[in-house]
Amino acid sequence: MKLLVTGGAGFIGSTYVRRRLAERPADRIVVLDKLTYAGRRENLEGAAADRLELVEGDVADRGAVAAAISGCDAVVNFAAESHVDRSIEDPGAFIQTDVYGTFVLLEAARRAGIRHLQISTDEVYGSIAEGSFTEASPIEPSSPYSASKAGGDLLVGAYQRTYGADALIVRASNNYGPRQHPEKLIPLCILNALAGDSLPVYGDGMQVRNWLFTEDFAAAIDVVLEAGEAGAVYNVGGPEELPNIEVIERILELTGRDASLIEHVSDRLGHDRRYSLASERTESLGWSAEVGFEQGIARTVAWYRENEDWWGPIRSGEYREYYARQYGRELGGSEAKA
Ligand code: NAD
Ligand code: TYD
Repeated sequence: MKLLVTGGAGFIGSTYVRRRLAERPADRIVVLDKLTYAGRRENLEGAAADRLELVEGDVADRGAVAAAISGCDAVVNFAAESHVDRSIEDPGAFIQTDVYGTFVLLEAARRAGIRHLQISTDEVYGSIAEGSFTEASPIEPSSPYSASKAGGDLLVGAYQRTYGADALIVRASNNYGPRQHPEKLIPLCILNALAGDSLPVYGDGMQVRNWLFTEDFAAAIDVVLEAGEAGAVYNVGGPEELPNIEVIERILELTGRDASLIEHVSDRLGHDRRYSLASERTESLGWSAEVGFEQGIARTVAWYRENEDWWGPIRSGEYREYYARQYGRELGGSEAKA
C-alpha cells in the first residue's frame, strides 16, 4: 500500500509513520506537511528513508494535495493546528487548516476514489461530568480548536452521505509520549521540572484527561484504517483518567523534584473539566491499549531526559516567545538537568 499521511512530521503523525514503515516492509508513505512550528523533519529521522517521501506543503493548497495524492491508496489526515491555548490566542489558522484543509483533502480523496481517515479528538464532544462519550454523543466543542476539528468531522460525514465517499473518523483522547511539542501539558512539565522551573497549573488542576500512549493510538489507527466502516466514527480512549495535578505530581517524582515547583496560574478560557471516551467500537475491531499510564509516563520522562538534541532547539526558538505571551513570564530555570 502507498499512503498519503498529512501532518506526518508532527507528534502523532510521525509516531504513526515510523511504526507503519517498520511493521509493513512493502508499504510506502508520502508525508505532506507544512512544517509549521509543530512539524519537524527530525521527527522522521530513522524511518525507512527508501520508502518515505516528505513533501513540504499545505493541505489547504489544492495543487500540492493533487500532486501528493497521486498513486496513493488511502489518506490519513493528521494535519492540524493542534493546541487549544494557541487557538484561543489566534483561531484563524485553525479554521484554515482543520476545516478548509480537511475539505481539500476530502475532495481529492473522493475524486481519486480512495479512503480518507480523519484523525480527530474527544474534544469535539465537549466536557462530560460523569460517564463516557460514545460515538453517538452530540458534538459540543468548547474551544476554537475543538470547533475547527468538529467542522472537519462534519465535512467527513457529509462527504460520505452526499457522495458516498469512503471517509471515516477516529477520535482519540489526550495522547502523550516521545516527540510531543513542549507546549502541551506533559512535555511542558517534564522539561520545566528538569530545568528546575515552575510548572503552571491552570485553575485548581482538577481537570480530568483520559491519557493515551501515542504508540497505542498509532496501532488503533491501522486497525480502523483496515477494518473500519465508511461513515463511522471510532473512539480511541486511553486506559486511565487522571486529574492534571496527579499527572504533575508523578512527573515531579520521576524528575526528582517536589511540589514547591507547582504554580497555580489563571485558568484557561472555556476550559473543559473532564474528557472520557468509551472505546468499545474500536475494541470490537481487535484493538486495546497496551501501555498503562505508569509505564507510559516513565518511558516519556526517560525519552525527554535522553533527547535534549530534540527539544533544545525548540526551547530556544519560537516557543520562548509563545511561552512569554501565554504565561506572562520568560521560560526560565537553570536549564541544568536534575
Ligand atoms: P502536532 O501539532 O504535533 O502536529 C501537527 C502536524 O501538522 C505538524 O507536523 C504540522 O507541521 C502539520 N500541519 C499543520 N498545518 C498544516 C497544513 N496546513 N498543511 C500540512 N501540514 C500541516 O499535532 P499532534 O498532536 O501530532 O496531532 C495530530 C492530529 O491528531 C491532529 O489532527 C490532532 O487534532 C489530532 N489529535 C491529537 C491529540 C493529542 O493529544 N495530541 C488527541 C486527539 C487527536
Ligand atoms: P493540553 O496538553 O494543552 O491538552 P488539551 O487541552 O488538548 O487537553 O492540556 C492538558 C490539560 O492540562 C488541560 O486540562 C489543560 C492543562 N494545562 C495546564 O494546567 N497547564 C498548562 O500549562 C497546559 C499547557 C495545560
